[in-house]
Amino acid sequence: MGNLYGVIGCPINHSMSPDIHNDAFKDKNIDGYYHAFHVEPDQLGESVQALKVLGVKGFNVTIPHKISIIPYMDELDVTAKIAGAVNTVVNVNGRLVGHNTDGNGYVDSLTHVLIKPIIEQKILIIGAGGAARGIYFTLAHQGCQDIDLCNRTISKAEELIMECPYENTSKALTLEEAELQLESYDVIIQTTAVGLHPNIDQKPLSLNNAKQSVVVSDIVYNPIKTALLQEAEERGLTIHNGVGMFVHQAALAFNLWTGLEPSIEKMTEIVYDKLG
Ligand code: ATR
Repeated sequence: MGNLYGVIGCPINHSMSPDIHNDAFKDKNIDGYYHAFHVEPDQLGESVQALKVLGVKGFNVTIPHKISIIPYMDELDVTAKIAGAVNTVVNVNGRLVGHNTDGNGYVDSLTHVLIKPIIEQKILIIGAGGAARGIYFTLAHQGCQDIDLCNRTISKAEELIMECPYENTSKALTLEEAELQLESYDVIIQTTAVGLHPNIDQKPLSLNNAKQSVVVSDIVYNPIKTALLQEAEERGLTIHNGVGMFVHQAALAFNLWTGLEPSIEKMTEIVYDKLG
C-alpha cells in the first residue's frame, strides 16, 4: 500500500502541488499519492490530528495556515523557527515535525540567476509581511549582511529588522525613499501581493533609478511576469519570477519526505504548462 501525502489550504482547488509531486513520485518509482485537502481555518486542529492518526507521511501547508499550524506541531525544525511559519510537515513515526522550505527554496532558485555569490550582493526587499520575513531571515542566516527593507508601512519594516536574529546592517525605507536610491542595489526582491492576479497592472515602485546589472526578482508566479518584471524586462534588466521559488520549495519538501532529489526541470515544465 502506497504512502499518502498532501497539501492543506483554503482555497486549495488551484494548487499545482499535486501535479508536480505526483509526477515526481512516478518519475522516481515511488508508490505515493499526493492529495489537495481543503481545510477551513476553524477546522485546522482537527484536520492536522486526522492526517496524523491516519498516517499521512507528509504534507505541505499553504495560505492561510502557515502560522496558525505551529501549535499543532510536535517539533519545529530550525527552518520553521527562522521563518516563524511552517510550509512542510514530516510525519516521523507519529510525531509531526514542521519545516519551512520557502526561504531556502527561494534562495536556491535566485542563486541560479546570480553571477556573484549571494553574500556579496547588496539586496533590497520590498515588503515586510510573512513572505518577506522568511526570505529576509534566510538570507541573513546564510550570511548576507547588506539587506535593506522597504515597505508601504515603514514601521513594519523597522520591526522586522529589530526581530532579525542575525548580524546585519539593515535599514528600513519607505517605498519612495527606496525608489530614489535604487541604483545602490544588486538584487531587488519583491515579496508583496502587489501585482498578484487580478491586480496585474500594479507595482510597488518604479525601476527608473535601478542600475543595469541589477537582478529584479518577484515571488509572485501568477502572473508569470508581474508589472514590475515587465518594466524590468523593458529596461533590459535580468528578471527572476516566482516559479523558481515554488518549484524549489517543492523539491526540498519532496527531499524531506523521500530522501530523493526530484527533477527541477520537469517540475518547472509542469508549472509553466499549468500556468499557460
Ligand atoms: P504575506 O504573508 O504574503 O507576505 P502579508 O503578511 O499580509 O502577506 O504582507 C503583505 C505585504 O504586502 C506587506 O508588506 C504589505 O504592506 P503593509 O505592511 O504596508 O500593509 C504589502 N502590500 C499589500 N498591498 C500593498 C499595496 N497595495 N501597496 C504596497 N504594499 C502592499
